[in-house]
Amino acid sequence: MTDLTWVRTGDGSQTLFHPEIGEHYHSKHGALQESRHVFLGSGLIHYLEQNSTKSASILEVGLGTGLNFLLSFDYAKKEDITLQYTSIEAYPLPLKLIANTGYDAFVATDTWQQFLESYESALLSPVQPTHKCTLAIDTRMLMEFDTDHFFDVVYFDAFAAIHQPEMWTTEALERVCRYVKPGGVFVTYAITGNLKRSMKSLGFSIEKAPGAPGKREMLRATKI
Ligand SMILES: C[S@@+](CC[C@H](N)C(=O)[O-])C[C@H]1O[C@@H](n2cnc3c(N)ncnc32)[C@H](O)[C@@H]1O
Repeated sequence: MTDLTWVRTGDGSQTLFHPEIGEHYHSKHGALQESRHVFLGSGLIHYLEQNSTKSASILEVGLGTGLNFLLSFDYAKKEDITLQYTSIEAYPLPLKLIANTGYDAFVATDTWQQFLESYESALLSPVQPTHKCTLAIDTRMLMEFDTDHFFDVVYFDAFAAIHQPEMWTTEALERVCRYVKPGGVFVTYAITGNLKRSMKSLGFSIEKAPGAPGKREMLRATKI
């Protein structure tokens, strides 16, 4: 793996910089803020509230450091939510890096421990960090991903389109959107004309939601 470097973001939380891609794993304005706002708040919590449910299945594109999973898992435990979490990650980070994010400061001690203990096994087959949570990390490339499952929420957390345009084509989006249940919610930190057109063409109604600090807007889409 190329030499990834740690960078402190605007809210004090760390992220990684990927020199080959030329991009950070999270917003420079704040990794924690972005993850909480875009994925946990506008994605999972929105879905649970809209559907008055205590159960959700999430499909993520790009597990990376695991911050989105950690916050979602921690929230699910506190709120007694049953969580099924599948993440597509073709270039999994070594456990040693995952253990050095400093993200233990943002979740309960047992959440952090359960994540670290589950991580390497989850790369091989689905694991249960607790009896109410399943974690699966699928190490295929996005365009090779397939599954028998359907999901309530998509966390689309690919590197920005300017750095990895192939992740944002209609074809790439369709690869995950085909597995979204009707009423399921797709969230991402970005919003562009192309993205909106693609999501509409894939059968979603789209919504401009307020962005994480440093970004005015983000996209939330709901499968019709
Ligand atoms: C923006 S980062 C994800 C950040 C992550 N959610 C976190 O909290 O750290 C994008 C991720 O997509 C992964 N990725 C890049 N190309 C991919 C592909 N073709 N298929 C699957 N994953 C890919 C990268 O390895 C990286 O971890």
